[in-house]
Amino acid sequence: VALANTSATVDAARESHGWARVFARFYDAAFTLGEWGGMRAMRERLLSQARGRTLEIGGGTGLNLAHYPDGLAELILSDPEPAMRARLQRKLDRSGRPARLLDAGAELLPLGDCSIDTVVCTLVLCTVDDPQAALAEIARVLRPDGQLLLIEHVRAHSPRLARWQDRLERPWRAFAVGCRCNRDTAALLAAAGFETELRHARWRLMPPLVRPLIAGRARPR
Ligand SMILES: C[S@@+](CC[C@H](N)C(=O)[O-])C[C@H]1O[C@@H](n2cnc3c(N)ncnc32)[C@H](O)[C@@H]1O
Repeated sequence: VALANTSATVDAARESHGWARVFARFYDAAFTLGEWGGMRAMRERLLSQARGRTLEIGGGTGLNLAHYPDGLAELILSDPEPAMRARLQRKLDRSGRPARLLDAGAELLPLGDCSIDTVVCTLVLCTVDDPQAALAEIARVLRPDGQLLLIEHVRAHSPRLARWQDRLERPWRAFAVGCRCNRDTAALLAAAGFETELRHARWRLMPPLVRPLIAGRARPR
């Protein structure tokens, strides 16, 4: 696990594969419409609830960075993908915000038990290979009164759209670097023993496959 301060250079030993590099490069541009269509406001509303020692998992290119409140005890950002992390590092440097950057996947977090007050996950649980392991890790690192703040696109309630999500899961996963458009993240949270306060929303101006969203707070029981 590589640990870096904002000023340090990102670990270049491991490289993203070709399409993942292209995806990272065009990520912010591809998300522009979706951010205008309400995602930016959802991020702002969600992250205003962050407090204490805060860990963001799958921080990507740093689209959440601008929305963290001042006064957090610590901000730790993580992402296992070098091309994403390089962009996150640059945004972090430009922001001047003190934060630590970790090279880590959600399935194995290099942090102590009960050491985090807030875990943030936006559009990430769709992508992790082993969501059960990721949720177990999140529950492990959270303090007993800790919170998981999340926005995720999820399996549709509409049977018709859910069928299309199933049919197109493989090509979408190849296109979106591992994203599963048909993942039922609310059910996974319940199965992992989280109590949730989630609302359903729609990700306007984005492809129908990823429009159904859940957003809110979850706490391990
Ligand atoms: C769709 S992007 C979301 C980025 C950012 N959270 C956002 O809201 O824009 C998914 C991110 O999850 C990261 N990721 C992939 N596998 C992961 C894993 N096992 N654990 C944590 N993050 C992962 C990817 O590198 C990517 O940055």
